[in-house]
Amino acid sequence: MQNNNLNKAELKEQYNIEMWTDDKIQAFRETLLNWYDQEKRDLPWRRTSDPYKIWISEIMLQQTRVDTVIPYFERFVKKFPTVQDLAEADDDSLLKVWEGLGYYSRVRNMKQAAIQVVSEYNGAFPSEPEEIRKLKGIGPYTAGAISSIAFGHIEPAVDGNLMRVLSRLFEIEVDIAKPASRSVFEAVMYHLLDPSRPGDFNQALMDLGATICTPKNYYPENSPIKDFNASYVNETYLKYPIKSKKKKKKTVNYFAVAIQNDKGEYLLEKRTEQKLLSNMWTFPLLEETILETSSNWKSFQKPDLYAIDPSDLNILQKYLQASFGIEAEINAQSKGMVSHVFTHLHWNVYLYKATVKKDAEMIPANCNWVSEEEFDDYVFPVMQQKLCKLLKEVTLF
Ligand code: ADE
Repeated sequence: MQNNNLNKAELKEQYNIEMWTDDKIQAFRETLLNWYDQEKRDLPWRRTSDPYKIWISEIMLQQTRVDTVIPYFERFVKKFPTVQDLAEADDDSLLKVWEGLGYYSRVRNMKQAAIQVVSEYNGAFPSEPEEIRKLKGIGPYTAGAISSIAFGHIEPAVDGNLMRVLSRLFEIEVDIAKPASRSVFEAVMYHLLDPSRPGDFNQALMDLGATICTPKNYYPENSPIKDFNASYVNETYLKYPIKSKKKKKKTVNYFAVAIQNDKGEYLLEKRTEQKLLSNMWTFPLLEETILETSSNWKSFQKPDLYAIDPSDLNILQKYLQASFGIEAEINAQSKGMVSHVFTHLHWNVYLYKATVKKDAEMIPANCNWVSEEEFDDYVFPVMQQKLCKLLKEVTLF
């Protein structure tokens, strides 16, 4: 996949990157891999060369820290030990093993990719990066990681951590927040990668980025490769990586209503139409922008303790009735707010308790009355888990 190969002169000319001599590159490989051999973290996906398992670990690691991933990884490979099992997985059990990890579209894509592997490659995971990239949800980073780690291909696996390490190592001026920058770092990696151990080389840089060459509290003098590090030698390391600020995410207010019936059960809704958190269960969630279409809605001002204005409360109640067929008495005083960050959005979800005034004759097909003891049988997104925790907190309201 070396379509972005730049020779040393081109790296210098186009990006002002001073690539080392071949001897220095060789010395770097030895130093880094010696360190890795002594210090590498003992991780479950490092005890296998099964590309299927390495793929699962790489997808999980894109969104969460290693410590969090380990138990998820173990549960996932136990439940779905082969790509065939994943291809045949039922959607609810799949979401259940992913519950709490977030980015649920990733696991849905994984199932689609598993189906591709079974139908197009007879169940044998492809080894060429170009083929791996054709699988649903797999981009250049994951393809590079799988092909180098599982198959020994000389391919870089460039993510944000690796860009940080390389930026400091070579004093690279390219903005790592720009998607187009990745190819510059890949070009650097094609010079550095150790052809005899490309997977270990990639993972050694990942470990370095996770343990020593960290975003904050960075002490380059502790690094095994400090002598190679231009920004350490030149004392410019505070300047790198160059990273422009991301645009602020749009914030959307939601009202979550924890409605109880006279048996103490809560109304849960399975999200079926929405793009975010689809097929997962939550308390009824009402988006403020929808309520705003009602002419009398007073923009939610977040006053002390998030009490709702009585006229807004009325609108909220009517909306509940129209959407869920439920007449409920909502406590105007919020239990509190939870924030949740998605890729492009920031949700502030204000939680309110409510009780059913009159038994609902009919609730929508995608809703259930559920006792707290049964919550475990439902797939909850992290946001709903946070709401449940908040609900249990002792407050005056
Ligand atoms: N982060 C992403 N991939 C990783 C791996 N294979 N080992 C450790 N950390 C990682």
